Amino acid sequence: MKNTFYVTTPIYYVNAEPHIGHAYTTIVADALTKFKRQRGMDAFFLTGTDEHGINIERKAEERGLPVKQHVDEIVDKFKAAFARLNIGYDRWIRTTDTAHEEAVQKLWKIIEEKGYIYKGHYEGWFCGNCNEFKDVEAGDENPVCAIHLKPLDRIAEESYFFKLSAFANPLLELYEKHPDFVQPEARRNEVISFVASGLKDLSVSRVSVKWGIPVPGDEKHTIYVWLDALSNYITALGWGNQHFDGFDKYWASDDGNGQIGKALHLVGKDILRFHAVYWPAFLLAAGVELPKTVFVHGMLLKGGQKMGKTRGNAIALNVLHEHFSNDMIRYFLLREVPFGQDGEVTYEALIERINADLANGLGNLASRTLTMVRNYFDGVPPRIFDAEAQDAKGVREAVEQAKLKFAEEFDAMNFSRALEAAWAGIASVDKYITDNQPWKLAKDESARAQLEKVIAVAYEALRHTVLLVAPVLPQTTGEIWKQMGLASEPLQLNPNETKWGETLEIAKVENVSPAFPKLNKEKIMSEIEQSSQESAVSSQQSATETTAKAESTSDAVADKTINEATSQTADAAKQAPVAVSEKIVIDDFIKVELRAATILEAERVPKSDKLLRLIVDVGEEQPRQILAGIAEYYTPEEVIGRKIVIVANLAPRKMRGFESNGMLLAASVGEEGRPVLATFGEDVPNGTRLK
Ligand code: MSP
Repeated sequence: MKNTFYVTTPIYYVNAEPHIGHAYTTIVADALTKFKRQRGMDAFFLTGTDEHGINIERKAEERGLPVKQHVDEIVDKFKAAFARLNIGYDRWIRTTDTAHEEAVQKLWKIIEEKGYIYKGHYEGWFCGNCNEFKDVEAGDENPVCAIHLKPLDRIAEESYFFKLSAFANPLLELYEKHPDFVQPEARRNEVISFVASGLKDLSVSRVSVKWGIPVPGDEKHTIYVWLDALSNYITALGWGNQHFDGFDKYWASDDGNGQIGKALHLVGKDILRFHAVYWPAFLLAAGVELPKTVFVHGMLLKGGQKMGKTRGNAIALNVLHEHFSNDMIRYFLLREVPFGQDGEVTYEALIERINADLANGLGNLASRTLTMVRNYFDGVPPRIFDAEAQDAKGVREAVEQAKLKFAEEFDAMNFSRALEAAWAGIASVDKYITDNQPWKLAKDESARAQLEKVIAVAYEALRHTVLLVAPVLPQTTGEIWKQMGLASEPLQLNPNETKWGETLEIAKVENVSPAFPKLNKEKIMSEIEQSSQESAVSSQQSATETTAKAESTSDAVADKTINEATSQTADAAKQAPVAVSEKIVIDDFIKVELRAATILEAERVPKSDKLLRLIVDVGEEQPRQILAGIAEYYTPEEVIGRKIVIVANLAPRKMRGFESNGMLLAASVGEEGRPVLATFGEDVPNGTRLK
């Protein structure tokens, strides 16, 4: 029987569209699966969607849709995005699958029967976005989630509790005995110190959330979303239900020790605690084997901030696809950001990396080698291969070294270093070619034997390299392979079983085309800029139409936080257009008092990345104060003296201790919703009304 390998991604919330952050973990899981399979393992790759909870319920309500319809639509978008990225998962779990729901109820019953669940009363604060109870400073009446910047919900209700406190010692023993359980080391230490500081029991049911799995035997409660979601890793394999018999094969340990199984969970550091503390505690309570490793990666950043829905700053997948192939995206994500660390991601870096490593490195090696095979040997690769010959030996050893190092680093999840090693191999082959100057040998009939040898070595080194990097570049390596005249597919061939100079059936090399044409940085950057401006114009139009609707929905009510100052237009732009019946009449519009104003003073609001405090002259007796969420894009100096448009009759609102009297208008440009202040082309006195 083959060795098995089981890798999972987090299951993604269906409250936002997929973006590069979701793609990141999923691409890593896909590359790992391909790597293991290529090396003979029976690999299983699970991904899916996390579909219950208050936030999903609210999102559906905001869209005016039945919850099931809302989740189905977003699931389709995730599936389409991953299909577009050519992700080869084996199973897509949905927490709304009946088999999953039944298995979660079974898990609950087991934990309850073992005495680790009891009924009580919960009072406290909850973030629907994190799905987490939050500790709040005493006296804070309107606490906001530090991550999502949205108001927390006050919860005071009957609740079931999980005896998490009973698992502090078993968990500490686990981290001690199995240092690989949480990786990398820094995350392991973080978890150890969190658990060592003591664990409180965890509220694991909610009466006020309807969109969830009912607690067996007490159906007015629904099961806490994280207990529901984490269980997906076993229910998808058929634990607790009969629909699939993968549990013993992929989850359970080989040695039958009953404690540590085989699963590898890939997760972002944002959900470390759930995976490294709650999940093993639930499993220990139920007497189910634990996963082998929770591997924690860092965040993709923009301007030092996590890319994502909250900040609306994530690189959109459709923009990426317009300019870059899947393999380019995969290579960049695995090579640029060391797995485990945070990393800044920009289009410029992406283009530079592709040009340097793919167009110049691998792409160039492939096309120069194959062009010489075609031109000097009529397309038939020479196979007079003497691996022990002095000059060939150096290249062979360098490529073999690259193979070893690549595999070692890949197994250790150091993808960036693995690729670095493979590219060191490419550099030695390039050097070998340059040193031997085959183009000169080709002109000298008496050097024919030497030319054959050089090209044979280059071709063979290319063959090994292409196989090696196939899990990261599945499509292009397949194309190069074909151009090389080789049979089968790189992903079907194990690099460890590939011998130098072995006898092969090779078709003629005929069509040689560059695997990675060089990208024109200026052109792509200006196209990206232009398309983001175009989408800003259309968002602005649809935002004007939809603001009224957004205001009337519950999430808009919940959204009235710091973001309000600018992002209403950005959020509204992403929603479906308003139905005709919801259009407003002129009398409604007239209620909104838009006036010209000048910014007299501006400063940053302490402890806020987003807010500027502005003093503006609206032609009234006294200037007034307005808070604007533009600090990530405008410095105070830049805006002083600017003529702007404000909503003058908005009810005052307090943010971060300051009262805001009105709201300024800004276009919301591009995917990230960059604010651009609305202004006039001609001089307009302060206080002039816009109609
Ligand atoms: N539904 C939970 C997970 C439940 S797992 C039992 C959840 N979903 S999520 O949609 O918010 O996805 C979070 C995961 O998406 C992160 O842990 C990470 O894997 C990925 N990422 C989302 N944004 C990211 C970045 N900006 N950078 C890197 N990964 C990111 O949490």
